[in-house]
Amino acid sequence: MTVLLGIDISTTGAKALLVAADGHVVGSATTPLTLSTPKPLWSEQNPYEWWDGVVASIRRVLAETGVNPGQIAAIGLTGQMHGLTLLDEHGEVLRPAILWNDQRTGPQCDEIRRRLGKERLIQITGNDALTGFTAPKILWVQQNEPEVYTKARQALLPKDYIRYRLTGAYGCDKADGAGTILFDLKARDWSPEVLAALDIPAAWLPPTFEGPEITGRMSREAAAVTGLVEGTPVVAGGGDQAAQAVGVGAVEPGIIALTLGTSGVVFATTPTALIEPEGRLHAFCHAVPGRWHFMGVMLSAAGSLQWYRDTLAPDMGFDALIAEAEAAPPGSEGLLFLPYLTGERTPYPDPLARGAWVGLTIRHTRGHLTRAVLEGVAFGIKDSFTLIENAGLGAIRQVRISGGGARSALWRQIMADVLGVELVTVNTTEGAAYGAALLAAVGAGLYPSVDEACAAAIRITGQTLPSPHAEAYRAWYPRYRALYPALAGEFAAVAEVMR
Ligand code: XUL
Repeated sequence: MTVLLGIDISTTGAKALLVAADGHVVGSATTPLTLSTPKPLWSEQNPYEWWDGVVASIRRVLAETGVNPGQIAAIGLTGQMHGLTLLDEHGEVLRPAILWNDQRTGPQCDEIRRRLGKERLIQITGNDALTGFTAPKILWVQQNEPEVYTKARQALLPKDYIRYRLTGAYGCDKADGAGTILFDLKARDWSPEVLAALDIPAAWLPPTFEGPEITGRMSREAAAVTGLVEGTPVVAGGGDQAAQAVGVGAVEPGIIALTLGTSGVVFATTPTALIEPEGRLHAFCHAVPGRWHFMGVMLSAAGSLQWYRDTLAPDMGFDALIAEAEAAPPGSEGLLFLPYLTGERTPYPDPLARGAWVGLTIRHTRGHLTRAVLEGVAFGIKDSFTLIENAGLGAIRQVRISGGGARSALWRQIMADVLGVELVTVNTTEGAAYGAALLAAVGAGLYPSVDEACAAAIRITGQTLPSPHAEAYRAWYPRYRALYPALAGEFAAVAEVMR
């Protein structure tokens, strides 16, 4: 049996997934990772912990499945996008990685817009400067930790640090590269103009590759610690959102991937490098060669429910909590939830936006609070969905929902009702790691294209149609829409008081 290995460095864990050439999952192991928030707005991880996690997960999945490492035809990498890992001249990590959900770089984003002009920035990179992206993080280190900056020789995205440890070679895929906003979106490579404007040396950035391209091979040293075979090819893979889209078969225009993970993502493939003129949608390269995508990102989607459970009902399981929510009516009797627990990106690029329940009365029970969280996330996703519907992409033929949140039938129903569309689920539930494994299968020559790999491996397994509740949500959505504009000034004022 020929097998592919997908490796995913998410914020919560390092996962190793073995997939057979025909697409069936052979086994999976995940090692949890710790997140550090040393100051308000900061979010960091230790890249050495990523590597230790990857090694542990690979060893475990090999032991548990009994797969002979010689059967692994190729390895595909994916992971959290945008994180900054700085290495010195010896390849040693200089400081903790600054992650995608870190919000410290508001001033650096303003500076990037000032240096390039917002319009020119969007024209070249497809995107406005947002705190989550990588470029402002590099400027932050330049301005706040000059002793680190002067030692830096290489800037890598999280999964590309793992690539370096596996192969000894630097490399990056086009999808993750675009998420740095140091990329020329059309050219699918680093932009000399942006690098010059931000004084970032081009030599710090790795060569870039299309998702299925081989970027290097397992080194003897990495083979010894992981138990894999020296020389096994490692393909570029993709940032987690692009790889997730491959993993559910959202690889052509008209098929939307809706992911309810920690973050919530609406992802639409585009045939050319389309740009939303105001930069409200992210526009990145796809992990599929020669394709691009639009994306709306909500920062705390299933993350909102996780926070809610952990903080207010730690002794309850998700199923029990959601069962209570089912008993509350749509609209939660006038209770609205804003899911901006870690600031927001789409449609409001505002690191200071905050969460809220609005409309509480003594009639409200825990079931209402839970339902309001599920509904607030759905309303926020609708904001991104509407931007994508209006982006001139043509008809949306299908919406494929996945991620931890999609396991809840009630949440899927609320999502279908709020969006007013049919949602489908697919047989593949291993997310970005699965997409990375499919990209590896193409890189190993097992399929001629990503489209064909997806067609062979992915099937529709279920559908959720809008119910009569959709009507009620049409009335509640404008009330949700009105809240952020009403509160944004106060969120900023509260941040000022906290300084
Ligand atoms: C995408 C994004 C997140 C991270 C974390 O733009 O920031 O989805 O990739 O998974």
